[in-house]
Amino acid sequence: MTDRRISDLDVAAKAALCSGADLWHTVALPEHGIPAIAVADGPHGLRRTVDSSDAFESAPATCFPTAAALGSTWDPELVREVGAAIAQEALAQGVAVVLGPGVNIKRSPLCGRNFEYLSEDPLHAGRLAAALVDGLQGSGVGASLKHFAANNQETDRHRVSAEVDERTLREIYLPAFEHVVTTARPWTVMCAYNRVNGTYASEHHELLTEILRDEWGFDGVVVSDWGAVHDRVAALRAGLDLEMPPNRGVSDAAVVAAVADGTLDEAVLDQAVARVLTLVDRAAAAPPAPVIDEDAQHALARRVAADGIVLLRNDDVLPLTDRPGLRVGVVGPFATQPRYQGVGSSKVNPTKVDVPLDELVAALPQATVRHAAGCPADGEPDAELVAAAVAVAADSDVVVAYLGLPDTAEAEGYDRTHIDLPAAQPALLAAIAAAAPDVPVVAVLANGSAVRTGPWEQHVAAIVECWLGGQAGGGAVADVLTGAVDPSGRLAETIPLRLEDVPSTPMFPGEEGRVRYGEGVLVGYRGFDAADREVGYPFGHGLSYTTFAYSDLAVTPDGDGVRVAVTIANTGARAGREVVQVYVGSTSAVVVRPPRELRDFAKIALAPGESRRVEFRLGPRAFAHWSVSQHRWVVEPGTAVIAVGPSSRDLPLQTSVAVPGATPLRVPLGGSATLREWMADPAGVAALRRFLVDRVGSDAILDDGRISYGLGGFPISALAAFLGLGVPAAEFDKLALDI
Ligand code: BGC
Repeated sequence: MTDRRISDLDVAAKAALCSGADLWHTVALPEHGIPAIAVADGPHGLRRTVDSSDAFESAPATCFPTAAALGSTWDPELVREVGAAIAQEALAQGVAVVLGPGVNIKRSPLCGRNFEYLSEDPLHAGRLAAALVDGLQGSGVGASLKHFAANNQETDRHRVSAEVDERTLREIYLPAFEHVVTTARPWTVMCAYNRVNGTYASEHHELLTEILRDEWGFDGVVVSDWGAVHDRVAALRAGLDLEMPPNRGVSDAAVVAAVADGTLDEAVLDQAVARVLTLVDRAAAAPPAPVIDEDAQHALARRVAADGIVLLRNDDVLPLTDRPGLRVGVVGPFATQPRYQGVGSSKVNPTKVDVPLDELVAALPQATVRHAAGCPADGEPDAELVAAAVAVAADSDVVVAYLGLPDTAEAEGYDRTHIDLPAAQPALLAAIAAAAPDVPVVAVLANGSAVRTGPWEQHVAAIVECWLGGQAGGGAVADVLTGAVDPSGRLAETIPLRLEDVPSTPMFPGEEGRVRYGEGVLVGYRGFDAADREVGYPFGHGLSYTTFAYSDLAVTPDGDGVRVAVTIANTGARAGREVVQVYVGSTSAVVVRPPRELRDFAKIALAPGESRRVEFRLGPRAFAHWSVSQHRWVVEPGTAVIAVGPSSRDLPLQTSVAVPGATPLRVPLGGSATLREWMADPAGVAALRRFLVDRVGSDAILDDGRISYGLGGFPISALAAFLGLGVPAAEFDKLALDI
């Protein structure tokens, strides 16, 4: 069918199909029975523009928690529900493809778009993104996995070259994409704006074709990020099927000309057309538009936002118990002007927005709640505002301070330069602490990426990190503050003590058009752990109102992997959920390995006193590294430490195992292999002995400790020259071939 349709099209029509009709639609060719399909942002709610010529005005839709909050849920099942709920709205609004999720790794807390990304860890990001894609596509709406690849900053995002080595790309920046593509099979993948090692992602054949399609089996459409195409013909050749938005005929003309003069093989164009038509067919099979229950969607948004809230610290002040006479002082600008989503292409026009103060009042019906902003959302300290807030605080039993970053601090299009709250907020906390030292303060944070807490922590008794929790975030905070919901969010990004401690900081955001990923695989907690550096709050951390105990770790061989079993008990008096995290640290003779890496996790609910055995299976990839000499995953022999616990820095149970399924490493021998490498290879050393006896009359140098120890690092051919053996390098190469 697709083939017949393609053979009916002339080159101009084919070229037209490979770019949009407008900002949000593909081209329709009614005379060929090909309808247009609509796409819309993404990723945490629908942004269906009202008028195709205007990128910004959009129809109301539920604003779900941003990816920063979704990531903190560590709950793929819940994220799947979000995907399915967004899909319902997409179907209702006639949208075939939602432009998300984003799985770029949070390389630096400064990235202005971190709120749209899930994690600093690729396994974690991949799991949650795959769930979102499943939720969308299981309901008949396509996903667009973005931004492929190495789009980890906003500074100069349209041009900058991410200079990232092969191993780092494979171990850190690609696995989330790989996992989603191979398990959830997204209908589309969106290429990034930036260059990767000098080549625009939109023209990157290795990324778009060799890795994405040939290795991972991607069978969908590669769409450009909006305006990411610079050379349409080169992009087509690299594997980019659909250019969005259309370049008003310029690209089409270039494609037609390239086919005419033979510089573009028409078969390449046909293949892109076939993929676009498959996408159109997938969209045509969508179920009918449902009726949306906005209240139910809002309720889901609230449940998810609550589960994404991370209780960083709690000095016995939370949860708040409602009672007559309880005096709650509410300060902070975001109590009445909630910050719940980020700025840029992901900005949803919400169906309604919870006001945090109102929600807290409703959740504490017997208490007296009074509010004074204390400072503006974005601006300098104001003495009058501070005085009013201090007066409220001094007359309270507990203060809840709604703080965070204003819209201007972080956005798509630019990066932050620091990780502090606006100065007026710590100043407000200090003033309250000075005037009312006995009143505990709960800091509630709304921000899209990490802010450091160190400079003001001494003024507060609890810190509740809510991220940008979507339109129902205000209600969700009330749920957690009052204990209606037990906090079960865990950090998906390290909260550093100082920006300078972050492994990527010296190289971020690059210079002269390049950003060097010099920290290599030591991104996020991998780098903090490798440097044994103190952090504010570690990756994986988050408190509950109950307590959990870990016991009975058992690791047993299982084919090419291992089975890990552990018992978790709820040792407190309340029901709660724990995120059980499994980390692996493998030794390596060849490469630097991070001390530990997240290899699996599970979120489990336990009633008070309940305990459960939780099992995991770790396959070969849990132990592998990417070898740049062999261009493949390699499992090295050695030992691995398997550690289980509630955060990357709290791992009460650990055990060492022999790495399963390892294949002994064979260093390729030859003239440039060192004497030590020859000696380490039993077949190699035997052959070398025979050769030396034949060729120079003796193999004694191999047994001369001084030579083999001191000169063992010499390539064998250089050693032969050095010792004047008179053997050319080529003879060692030949010898190696014969082994
Ligand atoms: C963003 C994408 C978004 C697209 C369409 C681009 O600027 O990078 O994430 O999907 O615009 O709005």
